Amino acid sequence: MIDLHCHILPELDDGARSLQDSVAMARQAADDGIEKVCATPHIRHDHDVHIPEIAARVAALQATLDRESVPVRILPGGELAETAARHLTPEELHRVSLGGTLGWVLLEPAPGPLGDGLHAVVDHLGALGARAIVAHPERHAGADLEHRLLTFVEQGCLIQWTAEFVRAASDEDLVLRYARDGLVHLLASDAHSSLAGRPVRLAGAFERLRSSCTPDWIDWMANIAPRAIVAGEPVTPP
Ligand SMILES: [Fe+2]
Repeated sequence: MIDLHCHILPELDDGARSLQDSVAMARQAADDGIEKVCATPHIRHDHDVHIPEIAARVAALQATLDRESVPVRILPGGELAETAARHLTPEELHRVSLGGTLGWVLLEPAPGPLGDGLHAVVDHLGALGARAIVAHPERHAGADLEHRLLTFVEQGCLIQWTAEFVRAASDEDLVLRYARDGLVHLLASDAHSSLAGRPVRLAGAFERLRSSCTPDWIDWMANIAPRAIVAGEPVTPP
């Protein structure tokens, strides 16, 4: 599996507190069967992340993981805020895309319900050659959530839900119906630390979807789509 959303780089945004914390997060990932983790620091006005430094920070963490025999590969990326997306140069956009391939950008909605502004940003990114993955819609659920999700899909977006939210979903939770209806494309940890909050784990969330989705669909979400995304390839949900 590949975790497409993880704040694993140390001492950068509100993610891993230290290099030791980053290594512990990578060990969590490995224990869960995750082979690759996209480092997705916040690209947002309230976090001082210098985009040109991301690649070197990824390489430095990888060197530590290799030295400590943690079998996880770190890929470059970013979590691009809706409010910051228009300020990036094409070069910067390329650097924060998942896997550094320009194909796919992880897009963080502004606080509050998903709105028209995010659809406009998706179009803006599309004009620059990138397709968008809408991050954690469960945190941006207005009364029109389903209509918004369908419109994002029509725009060519993929929808990423938080793995821990899905793992803990009750039988009545709408996310399971959305999964049946094909509006759950990707699960990611959005983990920030090994010391608190959500773990770097995906397997339990995919297990939770077994009652709603066919094995082929789960394999697409867990393996086929994420591999294509980090390779910058087109992805269309079946
Ligand atoms: Fe995040």
